[in-house]
Amino acid sequence: MNIRLAKADDLLAMQAANLQNLPENYSLRLWIYHLITWPQISFVAEDAKGRIVGYVLAKIDDPKEDDDSPSDGEIHGHVNSISVLRTYRRLGLAKKLMLLSQEAMITIYKATFVSLHVRQSNKAAISLYRDSLGFKVAKVEAKYYADGEDALSMELALRT
Ligand code: ACO
Repeated sequence: MNIRLAKADDLLAMQAANLQNLPENYSLRLWIYHLITWPQISFVAEDAKGRIVGYVLAKIDDPKEDDDSPSDGEIHGHVNSISVLRTYRRLGLAKKLMLLSQEAMITIYKATFVSLHVRQSNKAAISLYRDSLGFKVAKVEAKYYADGEDALSMELALRT
């Protein structure tokens, strides 16, 4: 298994993995926008034949550049989406993808924390974020998802 930076050639495979693994799907335009704007913080996991089996797609919220940024004045990373194909789960891939993205958020963007949203029923992902990576619940966002489910808004302070 190889983990490396995501590149434009990976976009269709990343989107396919997202469609297979999650109900939250995005237009190709958004995937491209993320990779072009923040090319150093999204990663993929590939198998021996170069097939994409997992990804993390992330962005940076910088209040100086984005008036709509919800943060309180701090540059921070945000994980939009992460998933690993079913047959490749529990091998530590998601944890490695997250750690690589977090490290790049610190070194390249001087991000002070990283945030994400997760369905409150998503036990596997919550365990990854809370137990394995040390995220805390910052707040619960009621009816955040299209089907009415609440989201946990989670954050992790990054060492700078
Ligand atoms: N049950 C309980 N804990 C789990 C589970 C699970 N099914 N899966 C992972 N964990 C926790 C464990 O603490 C695990 O450590 P351990 O194996 O030493 O016990 C730790 O997370 C690390 O696990 P990884 O092997 O790195 O996780 P994996 O590569 O299997 O991917 C993921 C986890 C991404 C949640 C995967 O199950 C998946 O793709 N699910 C569907 C998509 C999804 O829910 N994505 C997250 C949505 S939220 C968002 O995108 C911001």
